[in-house]
Amino acid sequence: MTVETLEYTPAIAAATAPLYERVRSVIPEIEWPVYAPYIAAINALKKERNAVILAHNYQTPQIFHGVADLVGDSLALARLAAETDADVIVLCGVHFMAETAKLINPSKTVLIPDVNAGCSLAESITAADVRALRAAHPGVPVVTYVNTSAAVKAETDVCCTSGNAQKIVESLGVDRLIFIPDEYLGKHVASQTDVELILWQGHCEVHERFTGKDLRPYREQYPGIILLAHPECAQDVLREADYVGSTAGMIRYVEERQPKQVVMVTECSMSDNVAVSNPNVEFIRPCSLCPHMKMITLPKILHSLQTMTTAIAIDPAVAARARRSVERMLEMS
Ligand code: 13P
Ligand code: SF4
Repeated sequence: MTVETLEYTPAIAAATAPLYERVRSVIPEIEWPVYAPYIAAINALKKERNAVILAHNYQTPQIFHGVADLVGDSLALARLAAETDADVIVLCGVHFMAETAKLINPSKTVLIPDVNAGCSLAESITAADVRALRAAHPGVPVVTYVNTSAAVKAETDVCCTSGNAQKIVESLGVDRLIFIPDEYLGKHVASQTDVELILWQGHCEVHERFTGKDLRPYREQYPGIILLAHPECAQDVLREADYVGSTAGMIRYVEERQPKQVVMVTECSMSDNVAVSNPNVEFIRPCSLCPHMKMITLPKILHSLQTMTTAIAIDPAVAARARRSVERMLEMS
């Protein structure tokens, strides 16, 4: 992909000045002339294309606050994708998120600005693995985290996200089920329910870096600090946390309770994104970047809208089966 360099003109500076005032606490002034021309160009082109930009909470602040029309966790992005009447959806997130949007909107064009933006959880399991699990546990239903490929979803009874996993698990009305692929999320759900879960050993490469031992010094250094953790973290981390929840759950916690100081034990960019609208909360940021989420950049979003690439395409036979498991999740949550 050739990236064109756009000029930071006085007109662009004036047009983007109010936006910069909003985000100045998280974007250094010296970087704004690089981002602003792309933000202006993307916002103009998305109108022409009748496109909507959906961005995950882990996208950089210049994407999250600069060009996204709708933002959220995986569950919210799936719901928002189901509701939009735009012709084109640009999914600023990772590949499974764009695939999920396409499953829900087979007739729309769903673009991902970098088709190589993957996910270590999605890569941890294949459709053949799920068939083997079913063969080993005949008649046991399969609940699959959305962080998986469409091929894996097609082998699934129902999907879940970190925001609704416990609810989905308990709604099936069974004593035992197969829960894939995130082992730590599975263990967390298992600790909250009487349903027995057969787990897989998939992990998020970003969240598995945190340890409980690393977090303890925050409590000593900042008395009264609140620790919020994503359930993709290992159990020793979750034990240290005051709250465990999806990215949207963590944001809700901050917005509603306005803690004086907080650590969000999750991907780095999220604290920046949330800090913009919560100026009275001090965010202490242990940094763990998702290299896949960070593959999405402003120049790639512009290129994606200019060339209408890369459009997500899913084998129709796979898509029909995968769609059922996503739609079932949306109905149940
Ligand atoms: P959320 O659904 O909580 O946003 O999580 C998605 C994800 O990829 C976390 O790593
Ligand atoms: Fe996947 Fe982890 Fe990145 Fe989320 S943060 S997209 S689970 S690798």
